[in-house]
Amino acid sequence: MNVGVSERSDTWYNNAEEKAAQYFQSLSAQVANKSYVTTLTEDIRLWQKVHVKPHSLLTMLTRLNKRPEAHDYSRYIRWLSDNGKLDSYLDRSVSYIYMRDLGKALHSSDAKDQIRDIVNDVKKHLLRGSHTKHDEQPQFMNMHGLYRWAQKEGIENAAIWVIGKIRAVTSIIPEGMNAEQAVRKLIKLIVGVVMHVMDDMDSSVLPADRAKRLDEAIRLGYSYGLTYPFIDDLLDSGVLNQEEKKQYSQLIRATLMDGAVPDMKEWNGNNRELVHFVHAELRDAFEYIKRRQLPDTMQAFTEQSYVFFHSQDLDRMKVLHNSSYTNEELYLPVIIKSSSSRLIVRSVIGSDADDGFDQRTFYYGIYNQLADDFADMFDDMRDGAVTAYTYYLSYRDSRPDLINPYELYWAVIAYLIHNVYDSDAKSREVLLSRAINGLKRCKQRVGDVKYNEIMEIFASGNPAFNRLIQRMVGRADNIDFYDKLLRDQMLDVLRNDRQEKEQFLETIKNVRDQINSHLPISKPNGIPAMKETLIDAANYSLNGDGKRIRPILTWVMGVNEYGLSPTGILPLLRSLEYMHTASLIFDDLPSQDNSSARRGRPTLHQLHNSATAELTGLYLIQKGIEEQASLVAFDANNVLAVIRYSSQKAADMSAGQAMDLNARGKELTLAQLNTISYYKTGIAFEASLVMPAILAQVGESEIQSLKKFAYHAGIAFQIKDDLLDSEGDVQVLGKPAGQDIANNNSTFVTVLGVEDARKTMWDHYCLAMEVLRDIPRNTGFLKQLLNYLITRDK
Ligand code: IPE
Ligand code: IPE
Ligand code: MG
Ligand code: MG
Ligand code: MG
Repeated sequence: MNVGVSERSDTWYNNAEEKAAQYFQSLSAQVANKSYVTTLTEDIRLWQKVHVKPHSLLTMLTRLNKRPEAHDYSRYIRWLSDNGKLDSYLDRSVSYIYMRDLGKALHSSDAKDQIRDIVNDVKKHLLRGSHTKHDEQPQFMNMHGLYRWAQKEGIENAAIWVIGKIRAVTSIIPEGMNAEQAVRKLIKLIVGVVMHVMDDMDSSVLPADRAKRLDEAIRLGYSYGLTYPFIDDLLDSGVLNQEEKKQYSQLIRATLMDGAVPDMKEWNGNNRELVHFVHAELRDAFEYIKRRQLPDTMQAFTEQSYVFFHSQDLDRMKVLHNSSYTNEELYLPVIIKSSSSRLIVRSVIGSDADDGFDQRTFYYGIYNQLADDFADMFDDMRDGAVTAYTYYLSYRDSRPDLINPYELYWAVIAYLIHNVYDSDAKSREVLLSRAINGLKRCKQRVGDVKYNEIMEIFASGNPAFNRLIQRMVGRADNIDFYDKLLRDQMLDVLRNDRQEKEQFLETIKNVRDQINSHLPISKPNGIPAMKETLIDAANYSLNGDGKRIRPILTWVMGVNEYGLSPTGILPLLRSLEYMHTASLIFDDLPSQDNSSARRGRPTLHQLHNSATAELTGLYLIQKGIEEQASLVAFDANNVLAVIRYSSQKAADMSAGQAMDLNARGKELTLAQLNTISYYKTGIAFEASLVMPAILAQVGESEIQSLKKFAYHAGIAFQIKDDLLDSEGDVQVLGKPAGQDIANNNSTFVTVLGVEDARKTMWDHYCLAMEVLRDIPRNTGFLKQLLNYLITRDK
């Protein structure tokens, strides 16, 4: 880094600071002379005409028709719709997002048209969704919803890519950071960039071009969004120690000043793995953004990024026990960071902003920041973080010169309505609704007593104005926002997903251990030595490092969902794994796939010879039937039904293997690939689900759904197996890779290529997920199983 470079970045920051200082001066003058109070009193008078109705029998009655908790997503939307509130709700929310995320002026006629169209689209979508199953999530809240959208836009690769990235980020985020919040922010930023790009395209853009731009938007969104969890949140958290933070800040600063991520030096500290991951990701991200910039947008991007980072850094360095920060020291970095973070988004996509975008965005940022900091005030206080609110709480008595941030917040609102948005009615409606709703949410969250205390501290300087505001907070009817609903919903989904995943991993570990302890075939005393050899061979294959997915599936559904006795179904679990192991022994034979390793050790025919392997396979199948016939805890007719079903399926599986071998060297159609995979692989998954269902006498329609689920899950599993054969790690797999090519097999990968095979896998994944809606059980395990099937590395 040379001197010229550091002078240049100083100038960047000084320019931003000068502009922020002017803005701040004008705001603090309004606070001092209370002119915002007069202006807003009139604004609120207009606003309340729509939002505060005099008490009447009708309003009392609609109150009785009690509003569902917003957590109950689809019921809440339906309630809005039933009470005629959905249109204004969506209009308010979409307008707000236009203002905040796209930096639009709401009074332009363009914006009005666009907002109306989007409101209609969203409404259609929501009303369609609200008639299906109760806990239906909004489309973007889950991976299959995202993938379905990507299919419509023709950007599957970008979706698969970003899902993988988000998964990697989720799993690397350390304990000391809030993983759900970090991931939520990352997703929000990606969506933000995608929205900007969508906003840039009109209907004349051709589908292929649109797909290309959306694909890029997703990658750019991730590349830029990464900076939140991995720069801001990481430095805010206590994960890195002081020395590490210094090292890390230095790295980021150097990147922004030199325009390239420097090499990673030796990292001293506990967080090597994390920092290496972050470094590699940030480098890729920075390079990706850079490659897509023109020289002048690159200049704007670097400048804004530097200003953003530096203002955050200044903010972060503040400590609550320092009693002498000036108002400027407190507020200027806030104005700068909150606006530069928004300005960057435009330059990331390398697009010309419309007229006035920069101005509006510059003034707007602090409004959001002050609203967020208000909501987080007590958490920040606990963490000792300096924000305008925590600082005011700490020093308001000893520092009469300190500006009250709550008053400043209202001054910003007055400034925005009248100086930035030309006293436009819609802007007033949206900004005031948002502000009053923020207070309502706060009151709900902290309770009346605490809320009144807060108001006493911050709002007692203008008693009349405060009475007006509190009347609005108490009486204004439904001024919620959709983005808040989505935000809460997303946090719920992410938390729930994490819990489900932890539970899934624990369950499969426990159940696998139990199954393993019951698998070995015992050798009764006095049997002939030759029979002992066969049992040893069977146990050799059984004892390998198998995943036991099939019997685990049976155990979880059978015991947890159908209430079958865990000891009662042990014979069924054994029979499933015996038959599966037999199928692997046959599959590996020289006459079939001719494989040298299985489950991390030499295949049985390698260890002995083909004859032994064949006989062991037959022996295991017969043992499996013997186990089924030992299901003494169940009704004999049901057991017979299980045996009949199982024999038919075993026969079908053999046919599947025969089809697979016959297909060698042939160009198969997708339908043929599906059929073969279903027969050779899907059927075993089906059996694992259907056999316990038969024992539990589950109804026919549910069995049909289980079969459909198994069909898609099984094919997705086989495609993943084909992908692992082409790109997996042999050490991890425990079986050779590259066999399919060597054998001239016709698999999804050899026929379609890796990319299309992966897309097909995702399509089956979505189809399987969609079937879960029809299964009237707790499907958390099946959902997690599907995630595991397509992400596993062995
Ligand atoms: C391998 O099955 C055979 C296929 C159907 C692709 P698994 O991948 O479940 O093998 P193990 O039981 O874990 O060894
Ligand atoms: C095997 O498919 C299916 C069976 C039912 C045995 P593969 O031949 O692809 O299985 P691996 O890759 O050998 O485990
Ligand atoms: Mg095979
Ligand atoms: Mg094989
Ligand atoms: Mg294979």
